Amino acid sequence: MPDAGSSPSSAGNRGPASPLRNANLAQSLVERDGAHVWHPYTQMRTRPDPIPIVRGEGVYLFTEDGRRLLDGTSSWWVNIHGHAHPVLNAALAAQAQALEHVIFANCTHRPGVELAERLVAALPSGLTRVFYSDNGSTAVEVAMKMASQYWTNQGERRRTFITLHHAYHGDTVGAMSASETSLFTEPFAPMLFDVVRAHAPYCYRCPLGLERATCDVACLGDGVRPGEVTLETWLETLATRLERGGSDVAAVLVEPMLQGAGGMVVWPAEFLAGVRRLCTEHGVLMIADEVLTGFGRTGRLFACEHAGISPDIICLSKAVTGGYLPLGVTVATDAIYDAFLSDDRTRTFFHGHSFTGNPLACALAIASLDLIQETGAVERVQRLEGWLTRGLAPLASHPSVGEVRVLGGVGIVELVSDKRTRAAGGYLDDVGPRLTQAFLARGLLLRPLGNIVYAMPPYIITEDETAWLTTQMAEVIDEVLGA
Ligand SMILES: Cc1ncc(COP(=O)(O)O)c(C=O)c1O
Repeated sequence: MPDAGSSPSSAGNRGPASPLRNANLAQSLVERDGAHVWHPYTQMRTRPDPIPIVRGEGVYLFTEDGRRLLDGTSSWWVNIHGHAHPVLNAALAAQAQALEHVIFANCTHRPGVELAERLVAALPSGLTRVFYSDNGSTAVEVAMKMASQYWTNQGERRRTFITLHHAYHGDTVGAMSASETSLFTEPFAPMLFDVVRAHAPYCYRCPLGLERATCDVACLGDGVRPGEVTLETWLETLATRLERGGSDVAAVLVEPMLQGAGGMVVWPAEFLAGVRRLCTEHGVLMIADEVLTGFGRTGRLFACEHAGISPDIICLSKAVTGGYLPLGVTVATDAIYDAFLSDDRTRTFFHGHSFTGNPLACALAIASLDLIQETGAVERVQRLEGWLTRGLAPLASHPSVGEVRVLGGVGIVELVSDKRTRAAGGYLDDVGPRLTQAFLARGLLLRPLGNIVYAMPPYIITEDETAWLTTQMAEVIDEVLGA
């Protein structure tokens, strides 16, 4: 299939093709890519050739050489309604005809206002003030800066952020600082600021060595009484951290219910409820990073709904535009917004981006919210949860599988090298790339996080397609790791 630049008419529009352009057109996309393009999270020396995608439709992607691949991770967790959706295509075209972009500092526009109204109506209660940015990382940066200045504007110097082990909040400096210290952040250690890290409820690898059935979410600190656990463990708990941090704590930042890139850790809802309760008790802000979990992915429109809580600030991105365009959204309460209102202009929130509130992205987000409602997308994800659970359950007894866990539209298989000790290779485990190639050979695009293999398909995937997907996961794990 020719790409857009190679049609005779488009060449004609640009005048005679240069010898250089002719030479480029004779090469494949992969060859041209290799000459100049630097890919994210990719070791460019040892990588396999990139997959040249020329078209998408529904859950499928089509390659330059005519292969069809099922998009098993929703193109880095963004696509929920499927590729090239006619309704979203039409919304994009209509908005492009009216207004493609305008500065959002002096100006406003219908899609920006309407999206804010729609989000406030859909979000957990109390989140009323909508600030736009560009992506998930900037949505988190904005939240952290907002929380910090909220205290400064009230004359308090609160410097500490509490985050959780296994967290991933993005790749900008603040978001990296808040994320777990890891392979991803270590090269940048000199640039990062300190945060305090508390236990996450990673039940398969319980930080306190307890069992979920009887633990009473002790990793939160709730119910941990002297004598039941060691002092050292006590000091590791979120409650203790909050007490020690005292009034120096600006906010607690968490990924509600599902910690994504840090290992696809699924939470008990009680932990999330406890985070809210502790933040309220100790008078610190709670920031919910729903960049991954927002817009139905966990089987609720927002993951905070699993515990019936509202954070003080929520961060959104990824699926917000249905996977079409980048957009970050940070939504705060009136109380936070009010702390920035002043005749003193130094209290202004000095943050913005060239593309803040981009009308095309906002128009797509509105159209995507309509589709979520009209197609019953959240109920679809709840059905998908059942299909993934059924399809992946047999893998639990596989000798290389430590745990199978499913939340909403995310099915996770944690591989181990020793089932008894739960030893595992982590992100750099070469099992990841080996599995990726074996999945590709079967027409499935997945990208395991090392030993964490997961599927997170667009919500429109059918029951049969899900059965096919989980069968490929099981067969490939057998093929690569031995039955
Ligand atoms: C929970 C969470 N927060 C923030 C981010 C960063 O988003 P982006 O990649 O759009 O910068 C991600 C990305 O995976 C994420 O999962």
